[in-house]
Amino acid sequence: MYVCLCNGVTDREIREVAAAGCRTLPELTMRTGCGATCGSCLDMAQQVLDEVHAARALDVPVLAPDDALSRAA
Ligand code: FES
Repeated sequence: MYVCLCNGVTDREIREVAAAGCRTLPELTMRTGCGATCGSCLDMAQQVLDEVHAARALDVPVLAPDDALSRAA
């Protein structure tokens, strides 16, 4: 889906850039052009960035059963 119509930036592109380390709207604008023209897309762009970073924050290591047992002993 297009998030930024002025500059042809899609949610997929924003997700890719966010996954590569982009954390802020100014950085997103510098990398993709999203928001650089009318700015009406910035709220949606921020939501997409937030979704990606919230999902990545949940990436916790999972203990293998053997690890859990050895820690309990
Ligand atoms: S819709 Fe993104 S700058 Fe206009």
